[in-house]
Order: sequence, then structure tokens, then C-alpha cells
Amino acid sequence: MSDIDLLDLPLVLLSNRGPVSFDRDTAGRTVTRGAGGLVSALSGLAEHLDDAVWVCGAATPEDAAVAGENDGGSILVQTQPSPHVVDGKPDGPSIRVRLVVTDPAAYADFYSVWSNPILWFIQHGLYGRSLTPVLTRADHDAFENGYAAVNRAYADAVADEVRSRGGKALVLLQDYHFYLVAEHVREQCPDVVLTHFVHIPWPGPDEWRILPGDIRERLLRGLLGSDVVGFHTRRYARNFVLCAGELLGLPINLDELTVQVNDRTVRARYYPISVDPAALDATLASEEVAAHVAMLRYVFLDDDRQLVLRVDRTDPSKNVVRGFLAFGTLLDQHPELVGKVSFLALLQPSRTDVPEYADYIALIGAVVAEINARHTKEGRQPIDLRMVEDFALAVAAYSICDVLMVNAIADGMNLVAKEVAVVNRRGGVLALSEMAGAHEELGEFAVTLHPFDVQQMADALYAALAMPMDERHRRLAAAAEQVRTHDVRRWLDEQLADLSHLAGFS
Ligand code: ADP
Ligand code: G6P
Repeated sequence: MSDIDLLDLPLVLLSNRGPVSFDRDTAGRTVTRGAGGLVSALSGLAEHLDDAVWVCGAATPEDAAVAGENDGGSILVQTQPSPHVVDGKPDGPSIRVRLVVTDPAAYADFYSVWSNPILWFIQHGLYGRSLTPVLTRADHDAFENGYAAVNRAYADAVADEVRSRGGKALVLLQDYHFYLVAEHVREQCPDVVLTHFVHIPWPGPDEWRILPGDIRERLLRGLLGSDVVGFHTRRYARNFVLCAGELLGLPINLDELTVQVNDRTVRARYYPISVDPAALDATLASEEVAAHVAMLRYVFLDDDRQLVLRVDRTDPSKNVVRGFLAFGTLLDQHPELVGKVSFLALLQPSRTDVPEYADYIALIGAVVAEINARHTKEGRQPIDLRMVEDFALAVAAYSICDVLMVNAIADGMNLVAKEVAVVNRRGGVLALSEMAGAHEELGEFAVTLHPFDVQQMADALYAALAMPMDERHRRLAAAAEQVRTHDVRRWLDEQLADLSHLAGFS
């Protein structure tokens, strides 16, 4: 690790999704490791330290049962080679986990009313301004009884963990679920070193004006309880500082990206999150992926056919519907491609308790049915839509696609693009939205998509499919090099090194 002094402090992590989750099958209780970039990056850190605890939500009934059995305290979970709870000393990497159980109605208001349809939507430019009623009485109540109450409960759990470690700790808070936590933790534990990493875009002050003054002030002041607020790009960090200046009237420095809060200087910083190339290489080399590759080649790539791929959660911000409309337009305008190009979409159903997300799945199905009805040739449908969460299948598809489509309306980073850059072996072209954080790093090697312009996206797909092979390989190699030299370990090490410096440890 980059700085031993800072990491001599106990570590307290907080995220809504935790590093492990409990379930039950016929044989009894099961434990699985959480997936995704955030969890794997921070798991490596938590496993490495002697005194670390990860505070997270009890996401399943079995998580809640485990929390209850331990009176809300933490448990030690050995994570490798196979995850299990340990009583004594683990003989492999382990993480101490504290599962927070909250009232289900409060959690629903926190997750399904505020975190996703309001905060996620505002931060991805999706929140309706024209017809949607903006903030009803019920939404105000859900803020107090859901978002604020759940944030308070998690802050209390974090503060409890800090206090039990003598009141000094490095606290790493994650994402948009917990904007009020830093301020509460600092009130209770003034000696902490506190960072909050926001994994999604941070828009400018005007977007935040959708929220009433008291709520947006509370969210900003909550975040400003941190020493450092981290983002994926400089643009998001700058927007945050602008918000503090315009919406709170605090003194700011836009060159240095700082906000003055009484006698404290809060820093906005940017660190682009990334993937673990070694772990991806190992997954690609597995027998499971090899079997999927053989199947995908057989189904999609015989007779010089080409494959366009997308892999996403069914999130309106991912812009899946316009992506399919662009593909339909491509086939309308280039009938010679019908039967020659397939579009495989691996979509993981997401946040289905939120009406906007459930409606979006229905819309996706309708658009795919319409395009497939229009362009089926010799029994072959152009779009193969699979509603699955299957990482091995995704990696197999990443390795052999001709074009990856990422056309998000906004995306904090987008790890799919980085994963494809590392594992693709076919000179795959990244067709990348200019609104994805990953475009800052990979845009020069990609074909750029404008997420609202269906015609532009159809033209860009055509250009990608027609690109000469040597140019495809040249661009892919450059993208892979960028990702391999800027991996997730670097994301974490740079944060810790900066933090160590700011906190006066080095
Ligand atoms: P987000 O964090 O908004 O979901 P990212 O692209 O940054 O978007 O990260 C998504 C992660 O989830 C990637 O690691 C990707 O491989 C994985 N993923 C997305 N959809 C699927 C799917 N259908 N099956 C398996 N893995 C998926
Ligand atoms: C994004 C967010 C994460 C979130 C993930 C999955 O990556 O930044 O905080 O955990 O999406 O969403 P979910 O609502 O299923 O946790």
C-alpha cells in the first residue's frame, strides 16, 4: 500500500451494497462475495488491513438474520478461497462486516423513493422537469423518514465502530446513498479522517435547483463533513465546488478545487475508477468462459458475420432503448447488413421495485420486438435480448464482439468499456458515449456516440463495423494499454496517497 502511516489507522468503510451477502438454500446458509468494481477494489484494501470493518446494508432476509444473531455487531467473514463466517482466527483473507438493519418502510423510502428515482435521476439528467410533479408531500416525508433517517442509522453504526477503535479512524464513505453521513460522523467523532467517494456524475448548480433549498443544502453540507470528496472526473469535482459556492455561498477556489467550511478546507478530487486486469485475464482463461466463447462464436460469428454487444443494468441512464432504435435505423438504411450483423444485449434487471425501472424493462421489450419483427431474415432475428446477470457469459462476449455499444445519457465512469478494452481479442471497437466518464480516458481510441441522436449513433455503428482491421487492432491495443496502466489498484493508491498527504501523515 502507498502509505503505511495512514493505514496504521483503523479503517471503517461504508457502502449500501456490501462485500458479502448471506442467503439460504436447501443445504442451509450460504455466503457469496459481492460483485462489481467498487466491492472488489475496496475488498482488497479491507482484506489487507489488520483492523478494518465494512458497514453495509442487510440486503437479504438472511443478512438481517445474521445481524440479529450478532446483536447488530460485526462478524468476521473469511473471503477466500470460499467465503464463510469464522469464529476464531481466519486462515485466509477476511473482512469484518457490520450489517445494518433498518425499518423496511424507511429503507424503501431511502432506496426506492430518494436514492434512485430522485438523486440518481437528477445526477444522470433524467429527472422530469415538464410533466412529472416535482416533490410531493409524500416525497418530503420520504426524505425525512427514509433518506435522512437511514443515513442517521448508518452514521451511528459508523461512529460506533470508530469509537470502539479509540475515536480515530480512516473513514471511506461510498456513493449517493449516504450524502448526510459524513457530517453526522464528524459531529460524533471529530478526530476521523473522512472521505466520501461519489461514483456517479455530479451536475452543476442549476440541476440541483430542482430540489428545494433546504434539502439541497442539507445534502451539500452533509458531504462537506468530509475532508475529501472524490469523483471520477475533473468536471464532476468542479461542479461540486461550484455548487458549494452558488448554493451555499461558501468561499471556494476553483483552481484548487477547495471549499472553505469555517476553519476546515474541504477538497474535491478526481480519481477515475478502473478494473483489475489480472482478475479479468484469469476469468477470460477459465473453462467456463471458454465454453461460452465457443457457443457465442457458433451462434453469432459464422460466415464472417459481425457482433454488436451491450452489457448493462436495465437503467434508464444506460439509454438502452435509443441504442436499439439506432441499430434498427442502421438496418433500415443498410439493408445489406441484415443477416450479417447481430446485436447481443445482456441486460441485468435492476431496481425493479422502482416504477420507472420496471416501466423501462417493458419499453425495452417492446422496442426489441418491433425491430426484430421488421428485420428477421431466414429465421434469424437481429437482436438477441437476454435478461441475465452472468459475468462469465459477459466476459466471453466482451472477448469476441466486433463493437461494444455504450450510449449512456450519463455514466459516472462505465466499467464495461474498460473490461472490453482488456479482454477483447477481436479488435473490438468501443462505441462510447461522450457522456460516460470513461470517454475522458478512452474517447480518443473509440467511436464517439451522441446519446440523444439516433441517426448519429446509427452512422457511428456503421463506421465501427466498416473500420479496417488494422485500425481496429491499433485502437484496441491503445485502449487496453491505458486501462492496464490505470487499473483499480492505482485508483485506490492515488486516493490514499493524497489523503495521507492532506491529513498530514506524509
Ligand atoms: P454501473 O455501475 O452503473 O452498473 P458499470 O459499467 O460501471 O455500470 O459497471 C457494471 C458492472 O456490472 C460491470 O462490471 C459489468 O461487467 C457488470 N454487468 C453489467 N451487466 C451485467 C450482466 N447483465 N451480467 C453480468 N455482469 C454485468
Ligand atoms: C452503481 C452505483 C452503485 C450501485 C450499483 C448497482 O454502480 O454507483 O452504488 O451499488 O450501481 O445498483 P444497486 O441499486 O443494485 O445497488
